[in-house]
Amino acid sequence: SLIAVLMGGPGSERQVSLASGNAVLEALLAQGLNAVGVDVTSTNLELPEGTKLCFNVIHGTFGEDGTMQSQLEELNIPYTGAGQQSSQLAFDKVASKEAFIAHDVPTPGSEIVDCSAGVKLPEMPLPYVVKPPREGSSVGVHIVRSESEALAAIEDAASYGNEVLVEAFIEGKELTVGILDGEALPVVHIAPRSGFYDMKNKYPWMSEEGGTDYYCPADLDETTTRRVQEAAAAAHQSLGIEIYSRVDVLLDADNRPYVLEANTIPGMTASSLLPKAAQAVGYGFGPLCEKIADLSLA
Ligand code: DAL
Ligand code: MG
Repeated sequence: SLIAVLMGGPGSERQVSLASGNAVLEALLAQGLNAVGVDVTSTNLELPEGTKLCFNVIHGTFGEDGTMQSQLEELNIPYTGAGQQSSQLAFDKVASKEAFIAHDVPTPGSEIVDCSAGVKLPEMPLPYVVKPPREGSSVGVHIVRSESEALAAIEDAASYGNEVLVEAFIEGKELTVGILDGEALPVVHIAPRSGFYDMKNKYPWMSEEGGTDYYCPADLDETTTRRVQEAAAAAHQSLGIEIYSRVDVLLDADNRPYVLEANTIPGMTASSLLPKAAQAVGYGFGPLCEKIADLSLA
């Protein structure tokens, strides 16, 4: 029986997903498992015969937002990771924020700007961060520090959908915490060499510019580490996520964590963040992929 590694997808994170998907496919084969890659190019799923499990590595639209999960539920085919509802919730940064607030998970203050009748500026004081609420890989994300940058930033974010999320800017460290089987992995500190952890700093192989240094475990004291891991695990739980996720967190100058979001289909190349954190507790990339498959079938 076969594991189909679903990758690519029709959304803006297609190239990232192909990199993740091929890495997962190679790793599963190296573990001695029977696996095949499936490049998903539209929302019309075509699966190979005899598939016992879909290993979902489609970031963003369709694969991460609950749509593909509901198709797989209908087909009655098991798939890795979060279920339909928690996928939908986690992919929506506005809905996630509501769940975080309801569960006392710390998260930056925010405002939603409705641009359906034209681009509008938020009331929130500068600096702030502008995001399309349903995208990944920092697509359409801008840090706005001065009024002169605001309009173009909102305009760009609104090109992905009329609703724009504006969050208070937190000055401090960018962290991320992998959650595997309900447990927080060691914290990763993400230190972009310039600017923030945007597309070019995440994926320097795409544009041959940018770059980031990573520290795992992060250079934090024990109390702060625990606080960050607790906030991340609480965020994961508040969205009802099963199996695994990677929770992005900012740490302010007073060592207070703020959860930004949980990624239910995090980057999965061998050098991606969740695999880095798993490696720090002795899980190589192959065993990590096999563990995710096993947990998802259990
Ligand atoms: N959305 C990208 C793939 C991530 O969270 O890693
Ligand atoms: Mg994301």
